[in-house]
Amino acid sequence: MSGGHREKQGMQPQMNEEVPLKPGPMPGLPDEPQPVTPGGEPVPSGEPLTLPGLPAVADPDQAVELDEDPAAQLMELEETLPRPDGPAADRPYRIAVFASGSGSNFQALLDASRAGHLGAQIALLVCDKPQAKAVERARAAGVPVFVFTPKEYESREAYEQVILAELEQAGIDLIVLAGYMRLITSVLVEPYAGRMINIHPSLLPSFPGKDAAGQAVEHGVRVSGATVHFVDGGMDTGPIIAQRAVEVFPEDTAVELQARIQETERLLYPEVVSWFAAGRVKLEGRRVSLFE
Ligand code: GRF
Repeated sequence: MSGGHREKQGMQPQMNEEVPLKPGPMPGLPDEPQPVTPGGEPVPSGEPLTLPGLPAVADPDQAVELDEDPAAQLMELEETLPRPDGPAADRPYRIAVFASGSGSNFQALLDASRAGHLGAQIALLVCDKPQAKAVERARAAGVPVFVFTPKEYESREAYEQVILAELEQAGIDLIVLAGYMRLITSVLVEPYAGRMINIHPSLLPSFPGKDAAGQAVEHGVRVSGATVHFVDGGMDTGPIIAQRAVEVFPEDTAVELQARIQETERLLYPEVVSWFAAGRVKLEGRRVSLFE
């Protein structure tokens, strides 16, 4: 049974190629609520974040025109980016974004990619809702889309098998969950162990699951935030990669807090993906560290 379809856009996929995490020293994670340099120093406001091997900022003189075939031109831009000494440095790092709704995080990743700050190709959007705004955003950017209707499959595992085949065909190195509102089973978790991440709108392990901002307001916490973590078999339980704090004001509603947390998410998530693309993330048990 097949309720999903792949929209043929952009480049043809390549064979999958695993990118193992590299061994090495364990510097601490940055914990400031603003962007940091690879050395862990805060980036002064107004200055771009510099990543190893990547240009500090898109040079207006080298701007790529994205008027005719945005997908091809986006790929071309990313292919010009060097990958520092990664095992797959001979080809671009490829990510698939999973989303179910608005896709504002997906848009932030697209924008970072276009600006040359991601170091990765957004090779696929996977979406369980054909009408989602995320699908519209992918089409506008020329990103290939795999959209499916869960109720047309016998089980969660059945549609995940189809998704897995799409990921393998597209040569995906990292799955980036961005507002994907479905539980994920071992069909995807196992083959992508250490290569699947999620963003959650609270400082985990506080307030996992749905309506994290509402839970935080209800509880009366003074600080909440955003967490990027690896995906394991549980609900928002995987090892934590990065967190950013967001103040909770006494008069905040859940909607207002969620909006402020999402502003932070849109800065944090592209930065974290760029760490993966540069081969900087190391996972040991539950401890995550970054290579310089
Ligand atoms: C984000 O707040 C994210 O933390 C949560 O779902 C929301 C998705 O928002 N997992 P968007 O679709 O990226 O706008």
